[in-house]
Amino acid sequence: MISTLLSRLQRGPDGAPAPRLAFGADYNPEQWPREVWEEDVRLMREAGVNIVSVAIFSWARIQPGPDTWDFAWLDEVMDLLHENGIGVDLATATASPPPWLTTAHPEILPVTDRGEAVWPGARQHWRPTSPVFREHALRLVRAMATRYAGHPALVAWHVSNELGCHNVYDYSDDAARAFRAWLRTRHTTLDALNHAWGTAFWSQRYSDWDQILPPRLAASHPNPTQQLDFKRFSSDALKEHLRAEREILRELTPDVPVTTNFMVMPGTKGMNYADWAAEVDFVANDHYVVPGPRERDELSFSANLTSGIAGGRPWFLMEHSTSAVNWQPVNLAKRPGELARDSLTHVAHGADAVCFFQWRQSAAGAEKYHSAMVPHAGADSDLFRAVTALGDTLKALAPVAGSEREPAEVGILFDWESWWASEQDSHPTSLLDYHREALEWYSALLSLGIRADVVPTGADLSRHQVLIAPVLHLVPAELAKDLTRYAEQGGHLVTTYFSGVVDEHDHVWLGGYPGALRELLGIRVEEFGPLPAGRTVELDDATTGGLWTDRITATSPETEVLARYRTGVHAGRPAVTRRPTGAGSAAYVSTRLGVDGLASLLPRLLEPAGVSSELPAEVRGLVEATVRRGPEGRFLFLVNRTDDAVSVPGVTGEALLGTIGADGAVALGPRDVAVLRLPSS
Ligand code: GAL
Repeated sequence: MISTLLSRLQRGPDGAPAPRLAFGADYNPEQWPREVWEEDVRLMREAGVNIVSVAIFSWARIQPGPDTWDFAWLDEVMDLLHENGIGVDLATATASPPPWLTTAHPEILPVTDRGEAVWPGARQHWRPTSPVFREHALRLVRAMATRYAGHPALVAWHVSNELGCHNVYDYSDDAARAFRAWLRTRHTTLDALNHAWGTAFWSQRYSDWDQILPPRLAASHPNPTQQLDFKRFSSDALKEHLRAEREILRELTPDVPVTTNFMVMPGTKGMNYADWAAEVDFVANDHYVVPGPRERDELSFSANLTSGIAGGRPWFLMEHSTSAVNWQPVNLAKRPGELARDSLTHVAHGADAVCFFQWRQSAAGAEKYHSAMVPHAGADSDLFRAVTALGDTLKALAPVAGSEREPAEVGILFDWESWWASEQDSHPTSLLDYHREALEWYSALLSLGIRADVVPTGADLSRHQVLIAPVLHLVPAELAKDLTRYAEQGGHLVTTYFSGVVDEHDHVWLGGYPGALRELLGIRVEEFGPLPAGRTVELDDATTGGLWTDRITATSPETEVLARYRTGVHAGRPAVTRRPTGAGSAAYVSTRLGVDGLASLLPRLLEPAGVSSELPAEVRGLVEATVRRGPEGRFLFLVNRTDDAVSVPGVTGEALLGTIGADGAVALGPRDVAVLRLPSS
C-alpha cells in the first residue's frame, strides 16, 4: 500500500507513476494568515516537499460547535496543495477534542490512577473507552471522509495522532467497564480469571465481574497479573479506536491507504506496535533523538525495530525533528550534517518517507521553540538550506523507493509482553530496564560492524542464524517450543538472566529458573542474585558484570561453560553457558556485561553460526552498514557514525549518494552517508 501512496505522489514526464521517496511534514496552516500559505507552497516546492499531513489538530476549527462545520479553509488548503503537486496525508482530526465538547461532556476526560481528572488545556484529553468521545470522533471522521473522498490531493489517511502518547492509561469508570468486558473475552469465566490473577493471594478472590477495577492507586503493590492485563487491555483499547476510525475510512474511501503514527522510541512502551501493525495499510513511525551517549545507536535501533514491525517492508517516517525539540530539559540544536544523517539512517532501515514535525515553526503555543522545516528565522537560514539539500538527496535516492530490508544473519528479539512484565514492581530488582538491555546488545553488534535485525516476537525466526533474546522474561509454552525448535533446526539462540521465568499469566514456571527455557539451556538456577546499584562482579574472560548474577548449575552433560564468575558469591560457577542441541545451540548470559563486555563476548557466541562482520576491519564501529533490496537493485547504505572523516575501502557499485574514489574507497565526511547500488552479482 505504501507503493500506491508513493506512486500517487509524483508522475514522470509521461504521466506514468514514478515512485520516489516521500518528503514533507505536518502542516498546520490554521496557525497562519492566508498570505503565508502562498509562501508555504512556494517554499515546499523549492525544498522538494511532496507530501504533508494536514488537520491533525484542527477539530475546533473544522467543527466549531456541535452542529456547525467549517470546511471552507480546509478545502482551500487541499486545493492549493494539489495545484502545487503536493499530496496530502489527511488527518481525521480527532486527536484533540475542542473545548465545546469537553465542556458539554466532561465525562470524556481521562482519569489518573488516583482518581483525578486530566483536564483539557493541552491535547489528547480523551478516554479511549468513552462511548461519548467515540461517537463524536466517528462523526467527525465520517464528515472528513465524506468531504474529501475523491479529492485529488488525498493520498493517505492519518488516524488521530500518536494514539496513546498522553492517554494510554485511563482509570475511569468507562475504563473499568471496558476492562471487565475485555477480561471476559480473555478469561471467559471468573474462575479462570481468579486462577490467572492468582487471587488466592491476599484475599483477592472475585465473586462477581463488577468487583473488578483497573489497578488504581492501592495500599501496596497491586496484583501483578491485573497490572499486566491492564497494560494489554489499554493497548487493545486504543487499537480498537484505531479500528473504529479506520472502518469508516475504508467504507467511504476504500482506495486510500490508512495509517496512524506509531512512536517506536524508548520511553513509549504502552502500545504493542508489533500487534498493531496488521491494523494499518502501511506502518508509520515518529522518532525523536534523545541526546546521550547512545543516541546514534538508539535511532538506528528504533528505525530497525520499526522495519521489523513492518515485516521488513518499507515504512513511513511520519515525524522527526529538523533540529531541537521543546520537551527535553535542555533542547539541543542538531549540528551540521545531523539533520541529513538522522533522516537517512531511517531510510537505511527501510523508511520510504522522511517527514518532520512540522513544516513552519509555530509563533505561539507550547511548541513554539520546537524546530521545523521553516524556522522562525525564515527561509534565509542554514536550516532551510539543509532541508532543501535533503530534498535533493531524497530525489537522487528515488530508485531505493519500494525496496525491502535484506535479512541480517543476526536477529534481536524485542518482545512487548516481556518489556511490560519484566519491569513490573515487586521484582528481584527495580533497576532492570528492558529496552536498555536490548539496545546494549544492538550497540555491541554495531561496534563490531555486524548487521542485526530487530524483530518482534511472531516474526519468522528461521531467517536468522543467531537470535538474541535479551530478558525474554515472559515465555508462554508455545514460545518455548518455537525457540526449542529454532535451536534444534540449526538456529543459535542467545538469552539472558530473568528470561523464561513466567508464563502468559505472570505465573512462575516452577522447578528452577530459567523456567520454560531450562531444558533447552541445560542449566538450572535456584535463586536469583541481583546486585545493588554500582556493585559489579568479575568474570574469568576479563569482562565485568552488573545488575544481576545467577547461581547456575549445569544440568546437561553437553552444557559448555563459556565464562565463569571470578569474584562475588558465585566465584568459580558458570556465568555464560552454551548447550548444543540438534543442529544449533542455546546460550545463556547470566549477568549484565554492558556494551564493551558484550562486544568482547559476542565473537564467541557468533562463532558456531559462522557470523562475522561484512565491513573492513578499519571501519567497524565507525560506520553502520545496511542493505535494502528491491526490483531496482540492492542498495548499500554506509552511515558515518562519527564526527571524523572515514574512508571505506573495497566498495564496488554505482554511487547514488557520495562517490567511489579511483582507489575503490568511499570517502565519508563527518556524519556523512553514502548510498551505493551494488552490482547485481
Ligand atoms: C509528537 C507529536 C507532534 C509534536 C511532536 C513534537 O509527539 O505527534 O504533534 O508534538 O511530538 O516533538
